[in-house]
Amino acid sequence: MSPFVLTRILAEDAMEAALRADVRHGLTAHPKTLPPKWFYDAHGSDLFEQITELPEYYPTRAEREILLEKSGEIAAALPARTLIELGSGSSDKTRHLLAALTSLETYVPVDVSDSALAQAGKSLVADFPGLDVHGLIADFTAELSLPDTPGPRLLAFLGGTIGNLLPAERAGFLASVRAMLSPGDALLLGTDLVKDEQVLVRAYDDAAGVTAAFNKNVLTVVNRELDADFDPDAFEHVALWDTEREWIEMRLRARSDQSVKIPALDLAVDFAAGEELRTEVSAKFRKDGVRAELASAGLELSHWWTDAQGRFALSLSTVR
Ligand code: SAH
Ligand code: AVI
Repeated sequence: MSPFVLTRILAEDAMEAALRADVRHGLTAHPKTLPPKWFYDAHGSDLFEQITELPEYYPTRAEREILLEKSGEIAAALPARTLIELGSGSSDKTRHLLAALTSLETYVPVDVSDSALAQAGKSLVADFPGLDVHGLIADFTAELSLPDTPGPRLLAFLGGTIGNLLPAERAGFLASVRAMLSPGDALLLGTDLVKDEQVLVRAYDDAAGVTAAFNKNVLTVVNRELDADFDPDAFEHVALWDTEREWIEMRLRARSDQSVKIPALDLAVDFAAGEELRTEVSAKFRKDGVRAELASAGLELSHWWTDAQGRFALSLSTVR
């Protein structure tokens, strides 16, 4: 069995410095915001896995359907020797791709969640003997130095996680992805598609309250890491569809006037009753928009696959 290598690119003190900067900036802004990458401590990563199994949360099932049916076509289009996956989480759906990519030598899962990477890596080396698995604990929005592995390289960004970046962040991110690819490499991108508002809102406000717990987990992370005194029960989970920008927005709405102390930042943050803190956007896409955003970054869409119900798309694009 090949060993599982896990490299921490993001030093723990750099991660804490980034959290401090994001919390100070986001909680003193109007309206208040926090970036979604802070959901994913070990508990948040577990909650996300629970979300993927909820009846209302269709994206994981829809993308798995595409991967099950089309991984052979993907492998034929790009017989990769290296698969790099950003925001890989449990790498569960990726298994269909790993099985189809018969020339694959190295898999590089990249994630901020060390617990998700460690768990995924352990079971992947057991199930794919002969495959080198080199996990990277890193922030995919920062500059990434990837291990020097053989091409062709397939860079996967699944789950619709690109929708969690704001439009300007997406443009910067796609430009940096383009810079990581050489001619002959490709990007495999998962994008959730625009659909009926009710279906979308239910996917982000499930009956069992798992998404609400996931949303509030960011407050627990700030409490633990920065010694803050957020009371998660004093906030209500909100998910709404922004028709104009075509994204779901998750917010936490203060149930009462309150003042939250964050001693590590020497900061007190006041919330008025009803005030909302934006914790995530989850943009939904159309084919023309995806093609245009890829083209702006110097990437050319070559394949577009959707699930049978047309809920989710996987696209393959190459360097122009
Ligand atoms: N790709 C998996 C997981 C999606 S959940 C799937 O499709 O099911 C989003 C994943 O991205 C989580 O594992 C989270 O830890 C990771 N993530 C979020 N922001 C990140 C960032 N800025 N850098 C690296 N990983 C990030
Ligand atoms: C990881 N990402 C694609 C998920 C999404 O659907 O935007 C995160 C999530 N937020 C709430 N539920 C799931």
